[in-house]
Amino acid sequence: MHVAVFSAKRYDHRSLLAANEAAGARHQLTFHEAHLSAATAVLAQGAEAVCAFVNDTLDAPALEALASHGVRLVALRCAGFNNVDLAAARRVGIQVARVPAYSPEAVAEHTLAMILALNRQLHRAHARVREGNFALDGLMGFDMRGKTVGVIGTGRIGAAFVRLLQGFRCRVLAADPYPADEVAQLGATYVPREVLLADADVISLHCPLTPQTHHMIDADAIARMKRGVMLINTSRGGLVDTRAVIDGLKSGVIGHLGLDVYEEEGDLFFEDLSGQVLQDDVFARLLTFPNVLITAHQAFFTAEAVGAIAAITLENITCFEARGQAAFVISTEKLA
Ligand code: NAI
Repeated sequence: MHVAVFSAKRYDHRSLLAANEAAGARHQLTFHEAHLSAATAVLAQGAEAVCAFVNDTLDAPALEALASHGVRLVALRCAGFNNVDLAAARRVGIQVARVPAYSPEAVAEHTLAMILALNRQLHRAHARVREGNFALDGLMGFDMRGKTVGVIGTGRIGAAFVRLLQGFRCRVLAADPYPADEVAQLGATYVPREVLLADADVISLHCPLTPQTHHMIDADAIARMKRGVMLINTSRGGLVDTRAVIDGLKSGVIGHLGLDVYEEEGDLFFEDLSGQVLQDDVFARLLTFPNVLITAHQAFFTAEAVGAIAAITLENITCFEARGQAAFVISTEKLA
């Protein structure tokens, strides 16, 4: 099958070509650096499938354009699918598949890395030591032991994160409309989200971005939090109202902020913009805080996860070619 791969970086070429080789080199992959959108969909001409990533825009115009060029499958090489208009995909006869689980541990471990780095201010300590400044003033952290960690969303990644927390002897609170037995058995206590917001010293977001979860962390939610709380978002930028979070940082309610995702990351992340003037003033403000640590959507980025993403993406494409049904189709039943 001819597959047009969008937003393709060198590591995507390597991992997808290796997975295609391993699957008998049955597919023809064409790589495009461009993001997928209505404007770039024409690049998929001649392809029956497109392979897309987190910041590609698969809205109705893009899907209509893809369908007009003969595309029948969107194979997302990620878990989240908030960037796809599933109703429009069904209307134009395009199947949408994703990689539901590749390495929840990769994201959970990055979450933990952000918490520890922010707590012990490793980002500042590293810069100081390189400048020959060995003073400790301003670098005091806190013991994780005994602290309350609130986990919002306890699916695959949230559960993996709770497993990692076992080693720290923290008290774990969880909020999820569908509580998981495994997470409760690990000692986490499910509570209403308002209780979690009020009690947690560290809050970590692990739920998908949907119309219901958009800006779940807004001014009202921040007003409920403990003064000095640490907020971590490795899920999707839209869960957090960035302007409200900036106000929370300025007032001191938010004591530490760790972001691997950002509402407007589509214009920034995954690109080297170091020689350019940053146009996003909200993002630029975030960068001025000493207690903010930002990574550019790299939580998934381990060798194991990238290899698994490529293998499952190829499996989706192969199954679609063989049976007309990808291995991990995103169900649109509830959209009926
Ligand atoms: P999952 O589907 O296994 O779990 C999501 C959980 O969130 C479910 O248990 C669901 O019931 C819960 N949830 C839904 N609405 C909620 C609400 N309003 N409040 C609390 N919980 C709610 O998904 P998984 O694999 O754990 O991934 C979670 C998210 O992580 C993905 O949707 C994606 O956006 C993000 N992600 C980020 C990556 C990165 O590199 N930064 C990589 C992979 C995923």
